[in-house]
Amino acid sequence: MINSLLDELETSTLADPLAFIQDKMLKTQLEKTLEGLHLSHESSYSQFHHLLASLNRKRLSIDLKMTSETEAALNFLCGYLEEHWLQHERARIAPKMKEVPVEQAAFIDWFESLQQNGYGQGHPLFLYLSERASREEFHYFLKQETSTEAGFDDLIALTQVKTPPFVKMELAHNFWDEMGEGELEGVHSHQLTRLIESFHLSWQTHYEDVHWEPLALSNMMIAVATKRSRFYQSIGALGAIELTAPGRCQKVMEGLKRIGLSSTEYHYYTLHSVLDVSHWEGWKENVLTPLLAENPESILPIAEGALLRLFAGERCYRVYSQHLGFYYRETMLPCYSTVRPLRRAGRNS
Ligand SMILES: [Fe+2]
Ligand SMILES: [Fe+2]
Repeated sequence: MINSLLDELETSTLADPLAFIQDKMLKTQLEKTLEGLHLSHESSYSQFHHLLASLNRKRLSIDLKMTSETEAALNFLCGYLEEHWLQHERARIAPKMKEVPVEQAAFIDWFESLQQNGYGQGHPLFLYLSERASREEFHYFLKQETSTEAGFDDLIALTQVKTPPFVKMELAHNFWDEMGEGELEGVHSHQLTRLIESFHLSWQTHYEDVHWEPLALSNMMIAVATKRSRFYQSIGALGAIELTAPGRCQKVMEGLKRIGLSSTEYHYYTLHSVLDVSHWEGWKENVLTPLLAENPESILPIAEGALLRLFAGERCYRVYSQHLGFYYRETMLPCYSTVRPLRRAGRNS
């Protein structure tokens, strides 16, 4: 029976994936939002990601009252919405996917080069934060950045299930660092909480005043971390974070120091400007290299995950820059020392 059932599952198609939604108006509304994504309607993007972020919040929270039927329907709906979005994003990164080398050593070099020439690298937003942003502007930036539902620790925990021992060891090491090596004061999310509290911010309880772009980033990370079929994308996306975070964290840290925060308050950024350098080395040696050796076909999904993550990040930097009211030439070289914000203007949203 098991083999027949697995065969059936592998070939099953869902004629109407939203059939379980009884309310016709609600179903039409949802279908229109999905249609809007394909037509690149800004309002549909916003509606979609606010909705998915809220569903993810419910889906990931511990809830004794949730029935198994509700949970199954919720997981199904999230999975369906997530695949819609991944399909949308895949089309956007397709040109870059053509550049991915198929040979292992060349691929590692290509991955590492994303630090310089990947989407969003050297974005002038970070020079602005380092040299000019006010306390109020940092308040805005941190509010957007901490709107994500799943932290790095949870994403690692979700991704590591059923990985080979050598990969699991590295992910466990990384997770242990996230946990402050066993000291509550050192737990990374705890350190970030300390920082946002100094701005009188708390972890988001709603998403009304959050742009859809950081929610899209968070939704994408959850989409790949919660699916075994997207394991390699999650590995690529998490690796891209480790690779590229130090430069950004350094700039944010400089800005927080400049506006007068104490080193204890901005320690989260100081730490990640250094620690993620070694996390990337570990990821490269103990995760990417052995996974690629074990399964050469993993190159493309790993590359896809990295590009999806960097693309989503760049979209955030763009909307933050627009909101902060400074403009820049998108064609400028992606290097902090040569990129300068051109002028300040009034807030536009
Ligand atoms: Fe961390
Ligand atoms: Fe890290």
